[in-house]
Amino acid sequence: MAAATVRCLLTIAVVLAPFLAGATAGGPLSTSFYSKKCPNVQGIVRAGVASAVAAERRMGASILRMFFHDCFVNGCDGSILLDDTSTFTGEKNAGPNANSVRGFEVIDAIKAQVEAACNATVSCADILALAARDAVNLLGGPTWTVYLGRRDALTASQSDANAKPPRLATLVAMFGNKGLSPRDMTALSGAHTVGQARCATFRDRIYNDANINATFASLRQQTCPQAAGGASDAALAPIDAQTPEAFDNAYYTNLMGKRGLFHSDQELFNGGSQDVLVKKYSGNAGMFAADFAKAMMRMGAISPLTGAQGEVRLNCRKVN
Ligand code: HEM
Ligand SMILES: *[C@@H]1O[C@H](CO)[C@@H](O)[C@H](O)[C@H]1NC(C)=O
Ligand SMILES: *[C@@H]1O[C@H](CO)[C@@H](O)[C@H](O)[C@H]1NC(C)=O
Repeated sequence: MAAATVRCLLTIAVVLAPFLAGATAGGPLSTSFYSKKCPNVQGIVRAGVASAVAAERRMGASILRMFFHDCFVNGCDGSILLDDTSTFTGEKNAGPNANSVRGFEVIDAIKAQVEAACNATVSCADILALAARDAVNLLGGPTWTVYLGRRDALTASQSDANAKPPRLATLVAMFGNKGLSPRDMTALSGAHTVGQARCATFRDRIYNDANINATFASLRQQTCPQAAGGASDAALAPIDAQTPEAFDNAYYTNLMGKRGLFHSDQELFNGGSQDVLVKKYSGNAGMFAADFAKAMMRMGAISPLTGAQGEVRLNCRKVN
C-alpha cells in the first residue's frame, strides 16, 4: 500500500474529524492560475500524456497511480518525483514505490516542454495533477476541472510500507485521515480498473483468502507461483481481468464476483458498508464516472503547498 499507510496508522489514534471533503472543490487552488502566466500548459500536458499512452497504454494507469501516491504522502506537492541523493532519501525507493511506481520519464518530458513554453512558472505538482486527469480521460474515463496553483515540495519523506492487508475499517480511516469520505474511497479504488500488479502484491490473496472466486484464483496462480522470493515476484497480472486498458466500471463487477485482485479491493465488497455502493457502481457506469471525477478533485486538493510555500522546481527530480 501507499507509503502513507504507516504514517496514517500512526495518526489514526486521532479521532477522525467529520469529513471535510467537499467543502470546496479546490481549496486554495484556482482554475485560472496559469491562464495568463502559461496559457498553453493544459494543451502541452495533454499532448505529452497522449503520446505516452499511445506508445504504451498502461502508462496512463501508471501516471494515475503516481498522482495518488504523491497526494497521500504529505499532500500533492510533487515530492514523489524527487530523486534520492547522497544526502537525501526521497519517496521513490520507499517500499510501496520501489520497482513499482513508474512514469517519471513521461513527467520529465512534459516538464521540459512546459519549461520551453513558460520558464520557471508551472510546478511539477500541477503537471502531475493535470497528467493524471488526462490519463484517465485518454483511457476512456471521465474528465474534470483541475484546480491549479500547487507548489513543489523542498523535501520528501520516506516511510516503509505496511505489508499487512488492510481491512475495511483501516482503509476507511486511511482515507478519512486525508479528508476523503468512504464514498470517495470506494470511487477512487475504481482506478484499479486499469493497470497491472506484481505477483508479490497479490500472492497472499490468491493462495490464502477465502472470499475469492476459485476460477479466478487458479487463473492467477498460473503465472504467480506460491513460492516467494524469486523472479516470479515481479510477474505482472492485470488488476481488472476483463478490460485492463479501459477506464470503465468492470472493477466493481469483478468485486461482486469475488474477483478483486488485492485483498484490500475485496474488502470493499465483503459484507460491509461499501457493498451497496459497489453494486450501484457496477450497474451504473455514469454514476461511477461522476463520483470518480469528484473524488479525484478532492484528492488533488490534499494539503497543497501554495503562495510562497515550496517552489516551482525547474527539474522535477531535484530541488532548485
Ligand atoms: C485502498 C488503497 C489502495 C491500495 C491498497 C492499492 C494497492 C495497489 C497495489 C498493491 C498495486 C500494484 C503495485 C505493483 O504491483 O507494483 C496498485 C496498482 C495501481 N493502483 Fe492502487 N491501491 C490503492 C488505491 C489506489 C488509488 C486511490 C488509485 C488512484 C486513484 C490507485 C491506482 C492504481 C493504479 C492505476 C495501479 C496500476 C498502476 C500500473 O499499472 O502501473 N490505487 N495499487
Ligand atoms: C529559467 O528560469 C531560471 C530561473 O529564473 C533561470 O535560472 C534559467 O536560466 C531559465 N532558463 C531559460 C532557458 O531561460
Ligand atoms: C467466478 O468468476 C466467473 C468468471 O470468471 C463467474 O462466471 C462466476 O460466476 C464466478 N463465481 C462466483 C461464485 O462468483
